[in-house]
Amino acid sequence: MFKLEPIKNMNTEEKYKYMLTLLKGQLSSESDDLANISNGAAIIMACMDRLNWAGFYILRGDELVLGPFQGLPACNRIEIGKGVCGIAVKTRKVQLVPDVHLFPGHIACDSASNSELVIPIIKDDKVYGVLDLDSPEKERFTELEKRYCIKFVETLNEYIDWNNI
Ligand code: SME
Repeated sequence: MFKLEPIKNMNTEEKYKYMLTLLKGQLSSESDDLANISNGAAIIMACMDRLNWAGFYILRGDELVLGPFQGLPACNRIEIGKGVCGIAVKTRKVQLVPDVHLFPGHIACDSASNSELVIPIIKDDKVYGVLDLDSPEKERFTELEKRYCIKFVETLNEYIDWNNI
């Protein structure tokens, strides 16, 4: 069972370190890649405050398709180069968006979202998709969240064969 009680008394960085510990525990105790990324989305949602959506979009052919997530139902498909997620894939760069309403082409799946952090999932030089986080709060994501979410994806990459997803 996941132990979430300790989080209550932690500062922000301690929470993010604990998030990585929970993720490693999940990844080292289960071999199914879909189960692992599903709980990955749940681990982020449980450990990060002030999120309304956290999950994966998986690259299938030339578009992103919705993967495991936590939050309200979301857009099923995103074209490469469209929206924050599609731009992250096209540029292969992390997108830290303080105010989504100022991001040209932002795709609004949940009207509650005001800021967004998207980490491209790149393994052996191939893009497999993105990790997408949304917050109802403007400027929710800082360099700290960016750093730990990059580590989160790096940890996933150590265990997940994205071709199985
Ligand atoms: N806002 C994203 C779409 C996905 S939802 O946030 C879950 C985008 O602009 O790509």
